[in-house]
Amino acid sequence: MAGLTFELNGRPVAVDGYAPQTTLLDYLRDRGLTGAKEGCAEGECGACTVLLVAKHGDQSAYRAVNSCLMFLPMAAGQEIYTVESLVDKGELCEAQAALAAAGGSQCGYCTPGFVMSLFAEQYRPGREGACDPHQMGGNLCRCTGYRPIRDAALSLGPAPAGVFLDRLAWPAPTLTAVEQTGFSRPVSVEECVRQLAVHPGAKLVAGGTDLGVESNLLGRRWPHLISLEAIPELQRFDETADAVIIGAALPLTDVLDRWTSAPAALADCLLPFASPTIRNRATLGGNLGNASPIGDSAPLLLALDAAVYTSARRRIPLADFFTGYRQTALAAGEFLTAIEVPKPYPAFLRFYKVSKRRMDDISTLSAAFAWRWDGERVADARLAFGGVAARPLRVCEAEEALAGEPWTLETIARVQAVLAQTLQPLSDHRGSAAYRTAVAQSLLEKAFYG
Ligand SMILES: Cc1cc2nc3c(=O)[nH]c(=O)nc-3n(C[C@H](O)[C@H](O)[C@H](O)COP(=O)(O)OP(=O)(O)OC[C@H]3O[C@@H](n4cnc5c(N)ncnc54)[C@H](O)[C@@H]3O)c2cc1C
Ligand code: FES
Ligand code: FES
Repeated sequence: MAGLTFELNGRPVAVDGYAPQTTLLDYLRDRGLTGAKEGCAEGECGACTVLLVAKHGDQSAYRAVNSCLMFLPMAAGQEIYTVESLVDKGELCEAQAALAAAGGSQCGYCTPGFVMSLFAEQYRPGREGACDPHQMGGNLCRCTGYRPIRDAALSLGPAPAGVFLDRLAWPAPTLTAVEQTGFSRPVSVEECVRQLAVHPGAKLVAGGTDLGVESNLLGRRWPHLISLEAIPELQRFDETADAVIIGAALPLTDVLDRWTSAPAALADCLLPFASPTIRNRATLGGNLGNASPIGDSAPLLLALDAAVYTSARRRIPLADFFTGYRQTALAAGEFLTAIEVPKPYPAFLRFYKVSKRRMDDISTLSAAFAWRWDGERVADARLAFGGVAARPLRVCEAEEALAGEPWTLETIARVQAVLAQTLQPLSDHRGSAAYRTAVAQSLLEKAFYG
């Protein structure tokens, strides 16, 4: 790999001679910036957290991200800060000082990661009051215990004046095209389509939160990576009276920030989705594109009657998108450009994620239910599930059993019987088929009482 430049801790760096799937973390440590650690190499522990300068309107925001899941060429043109940059003339930054004062560090392996997440939270544009300890949800500590770490977050007020605050008044870097051996980053859909044709076997990468894990833990190697991060069309967020259009490569953090009219179920789906560091990179395009049967966004978007747009300028209802286990209706060389959610939103909408751990865990099962009311009766029901079949799906038989009926426990019992006949969950280490069917049925009662 040759000719890659980016800004690291306020200075330009030129990178040469690294394999395209080298992680940003390995590169940083290779340079002697060993504050970022490798704990898990799969986005779970946060020991590798660094800051990216991201767009925030015409200004910028610091985003804490997992450097173990960023392929090094994805850093091209970015502005990146590591924990080493935070000390100014020998003075700890406020996040560091607060963690030290609260006794928030013992062995210290996790501490640089916590500092980075807390720093990003302290400088979060528009934040008021104390820092939110949940913003450190992607950082694990094995020995200190979370109480003093939480106390440190709660002790921090507004970001102090200085160069780091001044920096946020300026726009974030605009990512430009990159074309290198093994990696490219086009700036238009058409160019991306062309590159897919030119590089057989190329793999698209958006946030890299799935692919980084495949690369680090499964040792997968691709002949060429094509990053979707610099294509403005895939970063869009547009809202009209009739629909919301979300760019397929817009990070989930931005989806949450920008979709201010979203129904409450969006937060129910996206706040327990991984952790802030993952959500700062992960995208809806990646979540739908990997077609995992337990991807969290699919059931909610199915219940919202969403459609997807593709690089072939096709509009595909999401209900027709998943065709089998990790298979989609996309043709070879075709990719997602946007997700469309029609308005008005359903009058009744619920999303449930069932997992062993409340936060930062993979779903055993997820479900979303949506409908309009026709007086006391349910009209146009959409019942969508993840984790009950080889693909995320709507259960049409159950929807038919619910449509036109009063929303009562008697109706629910009839719909539950239909679910028992139609769901075909797998048994695995997260739950047996019988357990998954029982949970899917019980979520209707939860919706009734909740
Ligand atoms: C620690 C951790 C926790 C996680 N927790 C959750 C969770 O709670 N819920 C959940 O659902 N997932 C979770 N994930 C999985 C992952 O974060 C999501 O699937 C995420 O949405 C993937 O988005 P991405 O942009 O990072 O995808 P990438 O890794 O960039 O790509 C994933 C796949 O999608 C393809 N792809 C990317 N963009 C497009 C596109 N526009 N069109 C077509 N194909 C495309 C890629 O080629 C690749 O095959 C977790 C992952 C980690 C590491
Ligand atoms: S090393 Fe654990 S999240 Fe990166
Ligand atoms: S202080 Fe040891 S892991 Fe957190």
